[in-house]
Amino acid sequence: MKLKNIFSLALISTCTQACETLLPCLKAGLSSAATISFKDQSTFLNESIRYAALYPPSFSAVVKVASAEDIAVAIKCAARTNTSFLATSARHGFSTTLTSIQNGLEIDTSYLNKIQVDADANELIVEGAVIFQDAVDDLYTAGKEISTGSCFCVGFVGATLGGGVGRLSGVHGLMIDSLLSVRIMLPNTTIVEASTDQNPELFWGLRGAGFNFGVILNATYRIYDQTPQGLHLNADFKFPISQAASYYGNLSEVAKAQPAPLAIITYFNFDPGLNETVITANAVYAGPESEGLAAVQFLVDQNPIQKNLTMVPWNQLLTASAFGATGPPLCIKGDRRAQWGVGVERLDVETYSQVAEKFVEMITKYPASKGSVVDMQLLPTQAVVAQPDDSTAYPWRNLISHINIQTLYTDNTTDDETTGYPRLMRDMLAKTAGTDDLQVYVSYSHGDESLESLFGAHKLPRLAALKKEIDPHGLFNAYHPLPTQYP
Ligand SMILES: *[C@@H]1O[C@H](CO)[C@@H](O)[C@H](O)[C@H]1NC(C)=O
Ligand SMILES: *[C@@H]1O[C@H](CO)[C@@H](O)[C@H](O)[C@H]1NC(C)=O
Ligand SMILES: *[C@@H]1O[C@H](CO)[C@@H](O)[C@H](O)[C@H]1NC(C)=O
Ligand SMILES: *[C@@H]1O[C@H](CO)[C@@H](O)[C@H](O)[C@H]1NC(C)=O
Ligand SMILES: *[C@@H]1O[C@H](CO)[C@@H](O)[C@H](O)[C@H]1NC(C)=O
Ligand SMILES: *[C@@H]1O[C@H](CO)[C@@H](O)[C@H](O)[C@H]1NC(C)=O
Ligand SMILES: *[C@@H]1O[C@H](CO)[C@@H](O)[C@H](O)[C@H]1NC(C)=O
Ligand SMILES: *[C@@H]1O[C@H](CO)[C@@H](O)[C@H](O)[C@H]1NC(C)=O
Repeated sequence: MKLKNIFSLALISTCTQACETLLPCLKAGLSSAATISFKDQSTFLNESIRYAALYPPSFSAVVKVASAEDIAVAIKCAARTNTSFLATSARHGFSTTLTSIQNGLEIDTSYLNKIQVDADANELIVEGAVIFQDAVDDLYTAGKEISTGSCFCVGFVGATLGGGVGRLSGVHGLMIDSLLSVRIMLPNTTIVEASTDQNPELFWGLRGAGFNFGVILNATYRIYDQTPQGLHLNADFKFPISQAASYYGNLSEVAKAQPAPLAIITYFNFDPGLNETVITANAVYAGPESEGLAAVQFLVDQNPIQKNLTMVPWNQLLTASAFGATGPPLCIKGDRRAQWGVGVERLDVETYSQVAEKFVEMITKYPASKGSVVDMQLLPTQAVVAQPDDSTAYPWRNLISHINIQTLYTDNTTDDETTGYPRLMRDMLAKTAGTDDLQVYVSYSHGDESLESLFGAHKLPRLAALKKEIDPHGLFNAYHPLPTQYP
């Protein structure tokens, strides 16, 4: 009854010709717990607003699904009416490729957020729309831990599909390295299990390019006993940008032999409180306080403007880190932001000083870009490189750091392409990255990179063959589509 009313209302107000054929199909198949929203309805914005509002997809309708069956109905109806669609969860994924969806159908899976922790079996099962913080809280309560991304509000499975880089990668590897199996709905709506035993080729491709092959319903991960007492040293620092040479000089030395429990996320941005551009360092040590203090002493020695060193429960790290800057304010959706990523094999000290100069030039010339950040994640790789390269589709186990230029604009007069600075900074960083060509962790990419930069030339023939088998009609092509033939 409820659905029917929404339909008739919407048909009068916003339905275009295409959606007039889509709606009856959805209406006939969806469960009573599913809801549909249209552009002029109050629920539409909340169900479609993305973290990055630059280069967004556009939708005529959002269907909020309540079960796997609902997802199948939505996919079938979209395919039947030639409507492009995107399955979403936390909606943090950024890529200019998403603009290929115009007046499409969003399949909002956010009701599918169940979490099960089996401490005895050392397994975590999450549904497709679970966010990091919720899984981390449940694991922490059970005395367990796992590799996660570094932002509390991002989708657990979404971040896994590109590889899943994060602070604990030195001890537990990438998120894909703990993934045991998934239950996935393929583009033709068949549901299969994928693991090293079942559909192993699909499981290989899912771990690095997973967004190309369907909708993950449930994912099962191996989990680990937590770091003793569940406490990590969280060490936060701010330095004047004028100390860039000495700061990055020391950082590059540490990067050459980074201890497995030590992760450093560091960025420069304009600090409104200090009224100047500063370098922030967030160093986290997953181990005893004394070891951690020794590991971060080189940062204490850099003469910080501010510092805060505390032992923090693991489940609070995602919001406590960087003086709390990674908490709720960082997760506000709908802002004009974009990202430009670069992976590096070595840190070139001079480049960082030069990029910092360009950054200051950018925000001075274009004050609307003052909220932008150049972020460098120096994540330990011991457990990442311990996995053979060909065990997963993820192509860049060689990288020691992921740099993410995150632009943020207060108005639409100075977007990336207008100023040219983000591209320029990316080019400067890529030139001294020590890699053959631009190599980018796909989840940090912009959308203009070559296939080789995102997926690796050495992985593409196998990925293309898999794409041809699983998604020959390109239904899952909105986010970094793979070709069906390579080369
Ligand atoms: C949208 O989401 C916000 C934040 O979660 C909530 O406060 C608000 O009530 C929601 N609006 C609607 C119309 O659902
Ligand atoms: C489906 O849509 C695409 C793009 O909107 C269009 O190019 C194509 O011709 C359409 N196909 C059919 C069968 O209508
Ligand atoms: C995920 O697995 C749980 C436990 O088996 C099950 O209850 C749930 O329905 C599954 N979710 C989906 C979307 O299939
Ligand atoms: C490391 O920092 C110190 C200051 O604490 C500085 O004197 C030294 O030059 C830096 N090392 C490098 C390699 O830049
Ligand atoms: C911030 O610094 C600029 C120049 O660096 C200065 O013109 C401005 O007055 C300062 N603003 C505040 C609030 O101190
Ligand atoms: C230092 O970090 C702790 C843990 O996150 C936090 O509770 C405290 O408020 C911070 N202190 C300052 C001065 O930032
Ligand atoms: C920029 O924003 C203004 C005010 O919101 C709007 O009038 C204008 O059309 C926008 N321009 C572009 C190119 O999006
Ligand atoms: C769906 O696609 C998979 C992978 O290509 C295939 O194995 C399966 O037979 C297809 N199912 C149906 C019902 O066509």
